[in-house]
Amino acid sequence: MIEIIRVAKHILPFLAVTLLKMWQDLWYSCTVKRGQKENLAELMMANHTLEKGLTMPNRKLGFGYPKVRGIIDRCRKYIKDYSPNHIEIQCSIDILQQYYNLHVDNLFELPDDIIKGIQEVQKSKLYDTKLCYETTKSDYFTPTDNFKEFALSRHSVRWYSDEIVPNEDIINAIQLAQTAPSACNRQEIKVYVVSTDGKKKALLELHKGHTGFGDQADKILLITADMGFWQCNNRTSAFLDAGIFTMNLLYALHYYGICACTLNAHLSIKKQKKLKKIVGYSESEIPTVFISIGKAPEKFMVTGSQRVEHETIYKIV
Ligand SMILES: Cc1cc2nc3c(=O)[nH]c(=O)nc-3n(C[C@H](O)[C@H](O)[C@H](O)COP(=O)(O)O)c2cc1C
Repeated sequence: MIEIIRVAKHILPFLAVTLLKMWQDLWYSCTVKRGQKENLAELMMANHTLEKGLTMPNRKLGFGYPKVRGIIDRCRKYIKDYSPNHIEIQCSIDILQQYYNLHVDNLFELPDDIIKGIQEVQKSKLYDTKLCYETTKSDYFTPTDNFKEFALSRHSVRWYSDEIVPNEDIINAIQLAQTAPSACNRQEIKVYVVSTDGKKKALLELHKGHTGFGDQADKILLITADMGFWQCNNRTSAFLDAGIFTMNLLYALHYYGICACTLNAHLSIKKQKKLKKIVGYSESEIPTVFISIGKAPEKFMVTGSQRVEHETIYKIV
């Protein structure tokens, strides 16, 4: 009985806050009018999926026609409705050109409508953007003491060699990532290193974002947040702590010469249950994100992942 009262005391404020937040989110997503900002952001996401396709290790020519057509159509519309002078549109133009060049260089004939569409949007090219490119293991991991250079040299890598990533290096990276701050120094973030073939396969079956490269990863890391450290009303900070820790871990992995790619952990409750069984985390933990890791091959491709102009993301008030 005492236990029920204790739980009810937590559940009631939790339900009140959650329902209110849900209502706000629902209201916002149903009433928002899609404008230039949202349309351009969506174009950037579409660009990214095509760019990812260009950097896949076992890329087949003639891939992604629906995606390419979608980008061409959006480009045509936004160039007409807004102006070509947006980094998202310039980025699409460059990625489409890279897609076209790849096929021409390999004597692969693209459908006519795609060729015409790409040639048409090329006329609106105003400036260069950051494109995906081939790199080598030694170039990618060029040692530096300069943080700016180091931060600029990290990318999500979706191309791995057969080499094993030593557990010792992963543990060192996790220890370095512990320099991440957390709310009130709670340190509620945990890392699970999924290393056996059976568990890796079972985990990847629950996920969609790794197609074309996840099965080559030597190991998959799972970052969880232990909700036992939080009260109902401030629990969302756990995700913030997980995000900060994850970024620190990405840098630490890069520092130890390990290629990594963050993977979303948007899993249904059913899939979360399966994941819990595979990994064995505790009842109070929730999965926040995965990271696929592997050693670099001698040569590989990385995405440019063009960022929007920095002036658009800050305001001095
Ligand atoms: C929370 C989160 C989830 C992500 N999920 C995926 C994913 O499921 N699949 C994937 O290939 N990349 C995923 N990424 C990687 C992003 O695409 C990548 O970080 C972004 O394009 C910027 O590129 P960069 O990491 O090379 O700077 C994810 C990144 C974050 C932060």
